[in-house]
Amino acid sequence: MGLRFRFAVISDPHIALPETIWDSPNRFHLVEVSLPALEQILDHLVTLDLDFLLLPGDLTQHGERTNHQWLAQRLQKLPFPVYVVPGNHDVIARDGADPAIGFEEFPEIYQAFGYRDGKTPYYHTEILPGLQLIGLNSNSFDVAGNLLPMGYLDEAQLTWLDEVLPTLQSDLVLVMLHHNVLEHLPGQSQSPLGQRYMLQNAAALIQRLEKAGVQLLFTGHLHVQDVARQGSLCEVLTGSLVSYPHPFRVLAVEQDDDGKLKIEIQSQHLASVPGWPDLQGFSREWMCDRATPFMVKFLTSPPVNLSMAEAEAIAPGLRHFWATIAAGDAQFDFSHLPLPTQRLLQAFNATDAEGKPQQIDNSAVLVL
Ligand SMILES: [Fe+2]
Ligand SMILES: [Fe+2]
Repeated sequence: MGLRFRFAVISDPHIALPETIWDSPNRFHLVEVSLPALEQILDHLVTLDLDFLLLPGDLTQHGERTNHQWLAQRLQKLPFPVYVVPGNHDVIARDGADPAIGFEEFPEIYQAFGYRDGKTPYYHTEILPGLQLIGLNSNSFDVAGNLLPMGYLDEAQLTWLDEVLPTLQSDLVLVMLHHNVLEHLPGQSQSPLGQRYMLQNAAALIQRLEKAGVQLLFTGHLHVQDVARQGSLCEVLTGSLVSYPHPFRVLAVEQDDDGKLKIEIQSQHLASVPGWPDLQGFSREWMCDRATPFMVKFLTSPPVNLSMAEAEAIAPGLRHFWATIAAGDAQFDFSHLPLPTQRLLQAFNATDAEGKPQQIDNSAVLVL
């Protein structure tokens, strides 16, 4: 009899206690709803028969110690195990400077959530008999201790993976990290806008995972609902809890005797929280209202590469573009745009390798 288990994923909750919230006029996400949103989803999750919960980073607004401590205490009360990894907003510089924590504090604070020794910034743990989780740290710092703009796995982790992966061969292994390993947007690894959401040395990780037969990755950071497949790998990227469409996922996995995996993914969206009765409508408009400068940048960058004049002309008409991408399973109608631009943007529709519409970003049954 193979494995059977059920778990939830909440990503990028960006927890911000009211006294820690600072205004950021270009921010697409709404940290103001972080506490009621998380409380509501956790209240729901405890009614399900879950084996565990994953949080792939950006746990806090911007690394504030008080926000980390609040979250760790809240997660402690849950009846199922919880595992976390750090995002770029959790450790904003190697050395702590009030109110933000430093790199060494993260495993201390989250010792009960994967970091058993309270020190090493990456881990593997047996969640259930035959089921292992690897939690990686994709934050990296320059010599002065400043956070590097892209994700990066340091040499120590790659060496550790070389040691640990062969010992887990007979188990099912899940991998969680904050930055994206596979592309979730066309040309993401080539685009200056998309690159910073990815792991710079993704190839080094992919090669190790393929060799070890590891197939399932869980990431966050991009604030987009997307499931990407490449070869034997499947990366489930979960959007931000505090950003449209305020998603969370519940996954049921079955492994048959031959090791084949059946993964049922269900995503739900938070409809409202106190003070935001129409959270979906409000949050979508909030993003659309702030989208034009971003869209001009997006349209003038690879892979779209329009001229500034072309971009400025069409950006206001594409104010819904990023919100639609964030929701996953995008099916756009660009028929109002000039034909060459239509062709460039068509690539952002959710399709399979043959270009047929494919809706697997929110709810799907995948067989790996
Ligand atoms: Fe985030
Ligand atoms: Fe992030």
